[in-house]
Amino acid sequence: MRLLTGIQPSGDLHIGNYFGSIKQMVEAQKESETFAFIANYHAMSSGNGGQRLANLTMQTATDFLALGIDPQKSIFWVQSDVKEVLELYWILSAFTPMGLLERAHSYKDKTAKGITANHSLFSYPVLMAADILLFSPDIVPVGKDQIQHVEIARDIAIRFNNEYGDILKIPEFKIQEEVATVPGTDGQKMSKSYGNTVNIFGEEKAQLKTIKKIVTQNVAMEEPKEFEGCNVYNMAKLFLSNKELLALQERYKKGGEGHGHFKLYLADVMWEYFGNFRKKREYYMNHQDEVRMILDEGAKKAKNFALPMIEQIRNATGIHY
Ligand code: ADP
Ligand code: TRP
Repeated sequence: MRLLTGIQPSGDLHIGNYFGSIKQMVEAQKESETFAFIANYHAMSSGNGGQRLANLTMQTATDFLALGIDPQKSIFWVQSDVKEVLELYWILSAFTPMGLLERAHSYKDKTAKGITANHSLFSYPVLMAADILLFSPDIVPVGKDQIQHVEIARDIAIRFNNEYGDILKIPEFKIQEEVATVPGTDGQKMSKSYGNTVNIFGEEKAQLKTIKKIVTQNVAMEEPKEFEGCNVYNMAKLFLSNKELLALQERYKKGGEGHGHFKLYLADVMWEYFGNFRKKREYYMNHQDEVRMILDEGAKKAKNFALPMIEQIRNATGIHY
């Protein structure tokens, strides 16, 4: 079973990213052939570029390695290091009706918000189709917002195959249903765009400051407190064993402690949870040359899959003459 996923290098990773996606990706490495790449061309469609994009690409690669992407088990590379994807993007464009892209939610949502669309934002699903189809994965694990993009990839692949025979593998998507939405400091879905994130790799002091901002009910110190629906409790749940969770529930029920105490506890638990990842990250931060080497190796391995596929496509489409 081959899994493929792309990761946008768009900023500091938060615990919603970890529990909603990265953790599953790391676990999937055990039983599947995993392909994971940093989607740096994609990041350009939302205005990232220049030194900032270069830095974010290295930062994201470093963070993913620290969090458990294992280059022995996965093929891990940067999108732009396998340029064949751009050739396929163009070829697939000829199999992409305008209407298919005009109906894409993410494009419609962004333009509805007043973001001036450029062509890269519009044609983003075609590049995503190329990302997928170049490597023939069985499954593309995605969040709900990306389902339509995989459907577009399927649609394009079917049109291409109708013309040129069974060359492209039609991918399936897998929704990460079992993962609950991680709440942010204000109780809404945690997201960079809402400014309510708790980052995985913040400084300890900054981390505590963010956790102190978590919105809680105003209840006197001595009173018992509700843990159901409490934003601090809901976040702590992600990090605790059943036994620890029951103990925390008891503390809520007993009274005598304020939400400030629970926040300090959450900060401690979280700091400890990511301790080993932090050490690994420090290592990679001090050995960026090693990160580059891993990415180069990954790109070579990815090319071993991409080259025969693009050759077959060039032959079929008459690009080879
Ligand atoms: P953001 O909303 O902060 O921009 P992204 O859209 O870059 O995050 O998300 C990257 C991955 O992390 C996606 O797979 C997404 O489903 C997952 N993810 C992001 N926020 C959450 C959350 N609050 N709960 C669960 N999963 C999340
Ligand atoms: N569009 C995806 C996102 O924003 C990232 C991505 C790019 C991707 N290419 C992909 C995901 C191919 C899966 C497969 O999260």
